[in-house]
Parts: sequence; C-alpha cells; structure tokens
Amino acid sequence: MRLTVAGQTTLDQPPGPNTYTPTSTLASTLNLAPSVTPNILDPAAPDAQTFCPGYKATNVVTSDDTITADLTLAGAPCNAYGNDISDLKLQVQYQNAAQLNVKIFPKFMAPGNRSLYILDDSLSPSGSISTGSTANGSDLVFEWCNEPSFQFRVKRVQSDEALFDTFGSILVFEDQFLELTTKMVPNYNIYGLPEAIRGSFRLPNQYTQTFWNQYNEMNDQPIDANMHSTHPVYLETRYGNSSSKSHVVYGRNLHGQEWLLRPEQLIYRTIGGSFDFYFFSGPSPTQALAQQQLGVIGTPVMQPYWALGFHQVRWSYQNWTVLQEIIDGYAAANIQLEAIWNDLDYLFQYRIFSHDNNTYPIDEGQAFLAKLHANGQYWMPILDPNVYVPDPTNGTDANPTYDRGKALDIYIKRGEGHTDDYIGIQWPGFSVWPDFLHNASQDFWTNEMLMYHEQLAFDGWWLDINDLSSWCTGSCGTGRLADQPVHVPFKLPGEPGQINYDYPEGFDQTNATEAASASAASASQASAYPTPTTTVGTATVGFTSATPGVRNITFPPYVLNLTLEGHSLLREVVAPYATHNDGYNTTEYELHNTYGYASGQATYNALLSVFPGKRPFFLSRSTSPGSGATTGHWGGDTNSRWGNMYMTIPEALTFSVAGIPYFGVETCGFNGNADMELCTRWMQLSAFFPLYRNHNSRNTIAQEAFRWATTAEATRRVMDVRFRLLPYQYTLFYAAHKRGETVLRALSWNFPDDESLKSIDNQFMLGPSILITPVLAPLLRTSQGVFPGVPNTRWYDWYTLEEVQVQPGQNLTLDAPLEHVPVHVRGGSIIASQTPGNTTKMTRMNPWTILIALDSQQEAIGELYLDDGLSQEPTDIKEVKLAYANSTLTTSVSGSYDDTNCLANITIAGWNENGGHASWSAVEVSVGGNSVESKEVKITNRNGAVYVTGLEGVAKAFDGNLSITFK
Ligand code: GLC
Repeated sequence: MRLTVAGQTTLDQPPGPNTYTPTSTLASTLNLAPSVTPNILDPAAPDAQTFCPGYKATNVVTSDDTITADLTLAGAPCNAYGNDISDLKLQVQYQNAAQLNVKIFPKFMAPGNRSLYILDDSLSPSGSISTGSTANGSDLVFEWCNEPSFQFRVKRVQSDEALFDTFGSILVFEDQFLELTTKMVPNYNIYGLPEAIRGSFRLPNQYTQTFWNQYNEMNDQPIDANMHSTHPVYLETRYGNSSSKSHVVYGRNLHGQEWLLRPEQLIYRTIGGSFDFYFFSGPSPTQALAQQQLGVIGTPVMQPYWALGFHQVRWSYQNWTVLQEIIDGYAAANIQLEAIWNDLDYLFQYRIFSHDNNTYPIDEGQAFLAKLHANGQYWMPILDPNVYVPDPTNGTDANPTYDRGKALDIYIKRGEGHTDDYIGIQWPGFSVWPDFLHNASQDFWTNEMLMYHEQLAFDGWWLDINDLSSWCTGSCGTGRLADQPVHVPFKLPGEPGQINYDYPEGFDQTNATEAASASAASASQASAYPTPTTTVGTATVGFTSATPGVRNITFPPYVLNLTLEGHSLLREVVAPYATHNDGYNTTEYELHNTYGYASGQATYNALLSVFPGKRPFFLSRSTSPGSGATTGHWGGDTNSRWGNMYMTIPEALTFSVAGIPYFGVETCGFNGNADMELCTRWMQLSAFFPLYRNHNSRNTIAQEAFRWATTAEATRRVMDVRFRLLPYQYTLFYAAHKRGETVLRALSWNFPDDESLKSIDNQFMLGPSILITPVLAPLLRTSQGVFPGVPNTRWYDWYTLEEVQVQPGQNLTLDAPLEHVPVHVRGGSIIASQTPGNTTKMTRMNPWTILIALDSQQEAIGELYLDDGLSQEPTDIKEVKLAYANSTLTTSVSGSYDDTNCLANITIAGWNENGGHASWSAVEVSVGGNSVESKEVKITNRNGAVYVTGLEGVAKAFDGNLSITFK
C-alpha cells in the first residue's frame, strides 16, 4: 500500500474511469452466454467469439515462398471492444526452412494513420529474410480454410501436427481489440512470456499474462502480473516416444496485450496493432530459441568480460567515503569486487547528469575513480530517463540538461491536441522525458554523457525507470511548475510508516528474541500509521462497449488485467494520450511498451561515443524483443524473501527465451530485510547467474556479502567456482552472440527427450556442462536434485570430482552446509579455467587449469573463446577446440589473440582404473608437433580423479596446438 506524505503536493488526480460500471449492453442485446471470459475481470462481458463475424479470404495468390490474400469482414461489424476493420491483408512468408511469418494487417492504411499503428522496425527488429527459401523446403506449412470464416494453422511438415491452430475460432480485428485463439494440446508445456515473477518456469495451463510496462514503487514484485518488460514469445515442447520436439511462437506486437492460457486453448488479445506471428520449428528447444534470435530479434550483445565479475550497489551509499568503505570491506574479507555501483544518492536532488556537491564532490570523486580504475575496478552509476523541469519562478533553480533538451524540443508532448511538453512527476519532481523517436534525442543523450564523463569517469550505467513511469496522473505539471512537489508522492523506504521490520521466513526460529521485537515494532508502526482509505482508483472494473467511430485510448473498452488499482493504463506511467515527435504524433497508447527498447538503443549508441571501439555496458530495467542485442536486464525490486529467491530461477530462464542472457537479480533481495541465512543462500544462487549483483533498498539491514562471517565464507567459496568458470561462461556468451545459443539453461533444454524434466526449476544449468542444485528454503542443510541422463551421462561433484552415484530419476539428497552449494560437472566436458585473482582483470593474467570430466567412453570435448574482453569488434580473437580420447588431450587453436599464460594443471575426473591406466606416471607433451620436456610434472590420484601439476614450464596454454599424452 502506498502511503502519502502529510503536507506534500502530490498533484495526483483520480485516474477516473475505469470507473465505468460494467456495461453489458452487447451481452444483453445479443442475449449471449459467454463461454470464455473475454475480459478476464468481468464474467458478464460478452465473448467476441460468439458474435463477431470473422473474415473471408479472397484474391488468394500463392507463390513459391508466399501466400497473400484479402480478408473481408464476413458479416455486420460486431464492434465488440473497438471498431471492426472491414478489409485486411494476409501475408504469409516462408522465410527460411525453420521460419514462417504470418501477418494480418489493415488493407487500407494511409501512411501516417496512427490509429492503425503497425510496429516499426526501428522499435522492434523484424529480421532478415533469406533469399531462395520456398514453401517446399520448409519444416512448416501454412494451411487455411474459409468455412465458416477464415481460419489458419501452422503445421510441422514432418509429423503433420498443428503447432498453432485457429481452426474452430474467429479472427477479430478491431482498432482497439485483436483476438485470435489457438488450440493447445492437452497438458501443454510452454515457457516464456516474460516479464513476470512466477512460481514456476513451466507456465500453468490456466494463467493470464498481461503486458503493459508498469512499476509499482511500493510493491514491485506482484506475482503473475505485468512488470517492466514485454516479450510476447513462448517456447513449446511436446513429448512422445521418448523424445520431444519444440517450437517457438513470437507475436510481434507491443501494444498492451494479454495471453490467456486455458486448458485447451490459448487466447491472444491486443488493444491495437496487427497480427504478426513468427513460427520457428526447432525441433530442439535450443535450436528453436536460436532460430528466433538469428532470424528476427538478433543475438545477444557480447558483454565486456568485467560484466561477469561481482557487483555491489545499495540505495543509500551517502558519499564517496562510504563507497570506499564498501570497497575496502570486500577487500578485507578477501571477496572479489569488480564494480561499485551508485543508486540515486550521488545525484543533486535526483537530477540526472548531476552530482551532489556536498556528498559527492567532483574533485573527491575524481580521486576516488582514479584509484578505483587503477585497481582494475569500475563505477556504474544509475541513470533515469526523466529530466527535471526547473521552477521558472525560482531564478536559482536551473537545470542545464533540461535547457539543452528543451532547445532541441525533444521531449514527449502533452498530446490531446497540445504541442507543449508532457510534464509528469519522477524522482526529482516535475519531469519531462526525451523522446527517442526524435532525431535530435540521440545527440542530446550522447552529448550529456560525453560532458558528464569529462567530470566523472563512469564506466557504464544502469538505466532505470525506462518503463516510462510517472507518479502523477496525466501532465500534472502543466501550468503548475511553481507547485514543485517537495517529495515524491509516496513514502520512501525507511520513512515513518515505511520502516520494514520483516525478516525472511525461518528467522523467528534462528533468532526468536530479535524476531519478537521486530514484530512488536512492526505492529506498533501499523497502528501509528494505519493504511489510509484509498479514494483514488477504486473503480469497478469492467468492459465498456465501443462507441462506433471513436477510439478511446485512455480507457479502451477492453480492460487489461493490470496490477495497479483501477487497472488503468494511466497509472504510474506517462499517459497513453501523450504524443511522440515522430512526424505523426504517435501516441503512447501505441508506443508505451517500446520506450525501454528505444532508450536502450540511445544509451548503447551514446556509450559507443563515450568509449569508442569498446563494448558499451549498461543494464536496462525495461526491455522488449531485440533489447538483448544491446543490453542485459535485472529482475526488479525483488523482496528479501525465500519465495522471491526461488522465483528468480524461472525468471532467469524465461529471459533466456527472450534472448537476454545477461540477467541477474537483486541478490539477498532489495525490499525488506535479509538475514544471514537468506543472504548466504542467495549469494550462492546468484553466483551462477550472468549478472551477479547485490542490491539493497534504503533503511534495511546492510547485506553486503562481508556483513556476516558465514555469508562471507560461503561467498569466498562460491566466488572461487564462479571465477574458475569465467572463461567457460564467457565462451557461452560468445556462442550466444555468434550462434544464438543460450547461457543459463533449463535441464529440459540440455536433455530434451526426458519428459520428467519438463517442470524442473529448482535446478538449472550453466551452458551444457554445469548443473546447479541450490538450497532454496530456510533451515535446510541439504538440497535435492536429479541428475539427467544417467546412467549414460556421468556427473561429478565440482569440488571433490567424485562421481555421483544415482539412479535415473532419483531425487538425490546432497549435503549443503551453509557455506556450500552443490555444483556438478557433466561427463564428456572439458573446462578451461584460470586461478581466481581479485578482479577479472587479475584473473585473466593467471595460469590455466584444464578440467577433463570423462564420459563413459573415457572421452570429453570442450571449447574456449578468447579476446581482450573489451573491444566491440575485436580483430584478435582465438577459438580453441579441446578434445580428450585415448589418454590424449589435444587442442586445436585458431586465431591471433595472444594469451600468454601457461598451462599449469590438468585434472581428469572419472578416470577409470580398470581402463588400463593404473600405471600412469608420465606425460608426453608436444607443442605444434614438437616434443617438449616436462620434468617437473607430478601425477597424483584422488577419489578417482587424476591431478597433473607442474606443467608451468612446458608451454603457453593456448599459443598453438597442444597434444598431451598420459602414459
Ligand atoms: C527503483 C529501482 C531500484 C532503485 C530505486 C531507486 O525502485 O528499481 O533498483 O534502487 O528505484 O533508484
């Protein structure tokens, strides 16, 4: 519940309707009993399927690779939740063997008719089409019929099964409501549709995903609801005959929308735009995901190597000295810290591209940054896209950033016929937003960054609030700039009434006395600050009938199931009627969900100017398809709760579906208090997510990894694993960037034929070879997990290299004392690692160890990618293939990147004494075909693993091809 601050100027206005009472006009006139609830909140709402006429196809033209047709409304308009569009165009295209595109859009659309807005390529990639692809060569086939009205399905040619099937349903295409329904197989397995916080990776068969980017400042973790990002894409896996086939369905439309998963069907509804479906045939899950990236949305950006280090931030690091203390705290605890980040605290009154002269003075900052950078560490401040509008009546209240943007006239406009700027409220007070559709916005953004970097040498940004949040309704600052709000219109964490006394579950058992006093304090706060009765937005929610000829973009007839009170599109965001400077005054109604992408592109480009030739590093809170090609993402203001920690695994895996592998969460939780145990387990879990960042809200218990001795010890141990896996993870990113492979993987992706894995989300894999079985509940000293592929696949404990003894399907209980997280290596893999140093930079100067985890044939393979870790387009790279067979490890090296580090150790797990190697006592090393002396080498056996040490003097690890034979 949001509490307002006494005496503040909120300037908020009731968002008004959806104060509509539900009008069942259509239902009563048509006397319909809806079979499916079209507006999921109003059971009385009429079902467009039961009274809309659908379309008939004519003028069907088929070529080798396309089908086109006219679709004409097959009866009187139903105008269910908008005005029916009578003439449509169908365009089907076989884009390559694995990719089929089906578009349905208005036939008559004057250029610039923004009331029938079709998503622009510049805001969402639509992919390149390979030439020469034909229907005959496709894995997929498009079928259609005209009775009783136009329907289509997409089938997999090989098996003749329908993957997407609108037969039996009606196509509805209105200016504010599009609907189609596909039949689903029983107990279907679909994954994706981020962003949402969900209790499971496999989506329930009764579930609704709504998309409209919003931010609830006081409860950013609503379950199963719309959040900051919109990715209308899912992966479906179907099992049968001990195997599976997967495909991807992507609906390229970024209007507000809903995907209604129901036991036998999936209903797709948007409040505008067009149908633009892409189907990717797989057939393996990872192939289907790669096809989506390579074919349409683009592959993920190659992050700088240092992005994979560990990052610390907190809202309330008050000054440079505090930052330095945190850095020193990590150093003293001997825990690697790659980058220190800043939240809003460094800014002057929250204004972007400023600094607070009292607490974050420039000269001190410059000295701080010089030391930090000399240490191989980085500084990542926060950046919000809102620009503070100064009070014109107050001569001392200047904001040069605002003035420069104003001079270029780049801000989003008020709309509804007004040409002045839309002025909402954000952290600094009255704010405007650069419109990244305006040509000059890029220059503005780049210029601000270049100037700022001259003062304070930041290394990248985390771009927050670009879901286009505003904390008043409408352009509330218009004409009222002298009423500048003195405070954001809600209480900040830690202010009276918002002190968080909660602790994660289980705390009352480990710390009963403290827990009792916290709960007493919480109760007394609750009575001192009772929850106010809300007068705003308590409206009844329901649908309204469309007014013929009228488009209502503020309160569209179809009410999306948004989480904020009143389900209003207006809530907490720049209003849908605000307009863009794209030459057409396109409204936010059409573009709202694209701002994360557009601001991300601008930030990426600006960073390229600040750091020419270097990879831009920034994180974006709001993303949409294609964002992965420039940025990573964090999972919002996670609560410090065990359940929230669990739910980060489904969230991370769904972002793999969306092509954004650089994902992580607020480790130890953002909102609320973490305790030692939760923070320990969370530091262990996040160590395997690509983004590893600990972030905490104001006025909660400090949770840096060094705060508790046990957490620190657990972190040191897991950091050792993470750092040893850095070259492996970096290689996975290269494979993702080059080939669209995934980094974090569900078990079912690596073992697609085993149906028993389809729902597993308490375990996950990093690439093909590393299995993590974290502890996800309080007070446990064990974790449980399965080991896919046994008995054919062998698994080894990461720490001891002992082989896991387990039966197929057995849920094995693993020891997991507080300092320990179970990690296993899959037999058949070779992993090259470097001894961890204090930072990734130091680590990259250390000798190599090659871990060979043998399969049941006593063989293994691996790969390694090397470059300087920084250059955007490195000219010197190195690709290494590693293979082990017949007691010989060979490397095959190509490329010119110079890694000068030696090979120190080789470790072989799963070495089979009965395989005749019991007497190994020597190695024979040849470099580029020439034998090399290897006198210092020692070979020892432990737990069935062979440790070969003392290779340092022999060769650089990856200078040329190596061959090492064990005798
Ligand atoms: C938002 C962000 C959070 C940040 C806070 C203050 O809540 O999601 O990460 O700490 O704003 O900037």
